[in-house]
Amino acid sequence: MSPKITVIGLGYLGATHAAAMAELGFEVLGLDIVPEKTQALARGETPIYEPGLEDLLRRHVAGLPGSSGRLSFTTSFAEIGEFGDVHFICVNTPQKPGEYACDMSYVDSAVDALAPHLTRPALVVGKSTVPVGSAARLARRVAELAPVGEAAELAWNPEFLREGFAVEDTLRPDRIVAGVHGAHGAHGGTGTGAGTGTGERAEALLREIYARPLAEGTPFILTDLPTAELVKTAANAFLSTKISFINAMAEVCETAGGDVVKLAEALGHDDRIGRKFLRAGIGFGGGCLPKDIRAFMARAGELGAAEALSFLREIDAINMRRRVFMVELTRETLGGSLLGKRIAVLGAAFKPDSDDVRDSPALNIAGQLHLQGAEVTVYDPKAMDNARRIFPTLRYAADVVDAAQGAHAVLHLTEWREFREIDPAALAEVVSERHVLDGRNTLDPALWRKANWTYRALGRPTA
Ligand code: UDX
Repeated sequence: MSPKITVIGLGYLGATHAAAMAELGFEVLGLDIVPEKTQALARGETPIYEPGLEDLLRRHVAGLPGSSGRLSFTTSFAEIGEFGDVHFICVNTPQKPGEYACDMSYVDSAVDALAPHLTRPALVVGKSTVPVGSAARLARRVAELAPVGEAAELAWNPEFLREGFAVEDTLRPDRIVAGVHGAHGAHGGTGTGAGTGTGERAEALLREIYARPLAEGTPFILTDLPTAELVKTAANAFLSTKISFINAMAEVCETAGGDVVKLAEALGHDDRIGRKFLRAGIGFGGGCLPKDIRAFMARAGELGAAEALSFLREIDAINMRRRVFMVELTRETLGGSLLGKRIAVLGAAFKPDSDDVRDSPALNIAGQLHLQGAEVTVYDPKAMDNARRIFPTLRYAADVVDAAQGAHAVLHLTEWREFREIDPAALAEVVSERHVLDGRNTLDPALWRKANWTYRALGRPTA
């Protein structure tokens, strides 16, 4: 009999994971403490914009016409305890307000609510991004609270999905990392230290759950608990570093007169460097990279290893500096003052193919311009509702042309495909002044200049 799966927390990660597990053939029960979320999902509606997710829900949510019926939802921990053999924890770990450290209260509450219902052998699998050391602590907590005691084990299986590709990344991950107790390359099973069991049953269950991607050749990396937690934070720290590295090169290009786009292209041909995550612009945002590098620094500090990660402070600083520079560049382009200037901001999401505005560089820049006296009108293909909710004082337009009416400058801040297809000659008809500032380096400078726009970008020559 296949293991029955539950997924706790139905945000980006959990909703996608639950649907993907049903797609892989398992019976799945998803839990969220917010009833509106489970009710919407039970109707086949996604809480978020994520390509492909709604299709998966339609295919599997119980009660929908023609569905497999393998996916259901609840708000009851008693129900998932009764139902599941494997429980995935997918709740979020946001940055604590005013601090670098992450807020573990959702993970802690999920474990405390679930464990008392574990009356038969079960595996709890953490997927959330957590400070290293959390898994060992949670493993002890599970065994302490579960009526079944040490037969309730805990493993850590970090998730590397990217928003916009969440379904694809979950069904076809590039690696599966399984952190289990006692694994140091092979199972030691010494029983010392944190947690319970030897990890062999945990490994076997995870191999069974991921049988399809494993059969397709996805590497399975077995680690101990702290290494599994670290893989995730280290990966995000590395990606952030790559982006801030190229943005630092953009700063140098700005003073030396170089072109960072050409520089990145030339660097990327070196296989050891690679082309990906070398796109210079207004930097990284979203619900993961910024808060993960800060939480990583905070945790290293607690462990007495602050120095090892002090470089991440600089990575964060470079990233935040790019947003300020974009505002400065706009001011300079508009003759030294933003007061009363009409600015069209194209993009609000932190990246294209997402409606997520958490720590969005685009929205942050729009806000800074607004606070400095500009009249800012924002347009985004998908993130308007979310943007409006967190920044109600900005103006919002129905499309690109509407946003650009009478504008003194057009700022391109999230690289949606739709914006690459803008006809600069047609847009010139509605603006007051032809200034375009490309915060993502994905518009074609020649095309805009041909239509008599001044095109400015980060890390690139002016003309
Ligand atoms: C990231 C990681 O990629 C993923 O593995 C992890 O599980 C969660 O965090 P995500 O936040 O969805 O995923 O977005 P990602 O595609 O990594 O982009 C993050 C930010 O970096 C975006 O704001 C994007 O615009 C920016 N970025 C990315 C750049 O500025 N330049 C680049 O070259 C790449």
